[in-house]
Amino acid sequence: MTDETVTTTGAPGTDAVDTDAGAETVGAETVGADVAGGDVAGGEVAGTSAADDGAAGEDDVLVTVEGIEVHFPIKRGIVLERTAGYVYAVDGIDLTIRRGETYGLVGESGCGKTTLGRGLLRLVEPTGGRVVFDGTDVSTLKGEALRTSRRRMQMIFQDPLSSLDPRQSVESILVEGMRAHGLDKGKQSTRARLVELLDSVGLPESALHKYPHEFSGGQRQRIGIARALAVEPDLIVADEPVSALDVSVQAQVLNLLEQLQQRLGLTYLVIAHDLAVVRHISDRIGVMYLGSLVEEASSDSMYAEPMHPYTKALLSAVPVPDPTVEDDREQILLTGDLPSPAHPPTGCRFHTRCPWKQDTLCDTDRPELRDIGGGHRVACHYAEDIRAGEIGRHEVEPELVHPDT
Ligand SMILES: Nc1ncnc2c1ncn2[C@@H]1O[C@H](COP(=O)(O)OP(=O)(O)O)[C@@H](O)[C@H]1O
Ligand code: SF4
Ligand SMILES: [Mg+2]
Repeated sequence: MTDETVTTTGAPGTDAVDTDAGAETVGAETVGADVAGGDVAGGEVAGTSAADDGAAGEDDVLVTVEGIEVHFPIKRGIVLERTAGYVYAVDGIDLTIRRGETYGLVGESGCGKTTLGRGLLRLVEPTGGRVVFDGTDVSTLKGEALRTSRRRMQMIFQDPLSSLDPRQSVESILVEGMRAHGLDKGKQSTRARLVELLDSVGLPESALHKYPHEFSGGQRQRIGIARALAVEPDLIVADEPVSALDVSVQAQVLNLLEQLQQRLGLTYLVIAHDLAVVRHISDRIGVMYLGSLVEEASSDSMYAEPMHPYTKALLSAVPVPDPTVEDDREQILLTGDLPSPAHPPTGCRFHTRCPWKQDTLCDTDRPELRDIGGGHRVACHYAEDIRAGEIGRHEVEPELVHPDT
């Protein structure tokens, strides 16, 4: 994360327990709670500031994703089930996440962010590509080895329903994961650990004997974070961790995540549809469109000079506090809906909505994500021409998109 503290709402710090008595329910879920034994080491990785754009050495990299694909089969027929096609939810993504950094993943709803996060942790089985975690190819791990590796990668979900079991007390929620991973080593030490965990997320000891419904949305997310931390992970995938929270509480939870990262050397993949959320907490940002990564850069570089037409459009929709900047910025309204990932457009997947689309290449050749200087990667055939102002923007006729068949 950047050194900057999230101040978007002027909310108080994270020391106090937030008191949003709102109705939003936000919870969190950890993965791999079915684990027995496993190595207890790790948990603390030296936090490195990875905000620079230079290529990371192998030692600096915690996660390498190579060509990951998650294609969901579309089944047809009642008696004789057959595969009628595929939803190309994630369709060939390469990225690396460095130790101690926060990688923000953004894109509009349905572009495959959650599926990428789940595929990375093998909560959904990728149909192609591989994931290397701390030097080990986890794509092929099975049984005990897979469960052990899962302890090191935890997920925090937005999903309020499948998050915290309403019948379990906070104590039982937290102990469950520890026990599964052999981290519950006696009554006294476990108790001390639970109190420490709650304290680290800003909740009092008395929370242990309460149930999820007795907490506010923000507090429930803190419990979810504590549950993820209970098994001493290295990587936390936070899928829309604050999307369902009241704005003032959002900043508190983001600040908490930032503090924990600094203290424990955690590495984060933070998923959000809201660029404003990701901007403040991310070192680097990846922008997804229809199962692909279309742009990746340091947070500062992405905001200073977005290169991909899709990112330009996304950013032009984010309000800027400074009115003079606001006036100068070009507003780019995207025409048409996100095409179905079951029928992705040919060539550049964005060509059906791109205001810079050209007659050659765009609808025939799929652009590679390529470095166009300083680690800023863009998947657009014409990125340089657009940057130089040699290609102008034009109107886009909305296309009829295929319904899901
Ligand atoms: N289990 C599944 N089976 C079939 N399609 C799925 C499944 N999970 C997600 N999808 C589809 O994959 C696409 C990407 O979904 P998702 O990863 O949830 O996107 P995001 O998190 O960016 O909103 C969507 O079209 C969604 O409907
Ligand atoms: S490759 Fe063509 S259609 Fe795709 S973003 Fe670039 S200009 Fe637009
Ligand atoms: Mg999602």
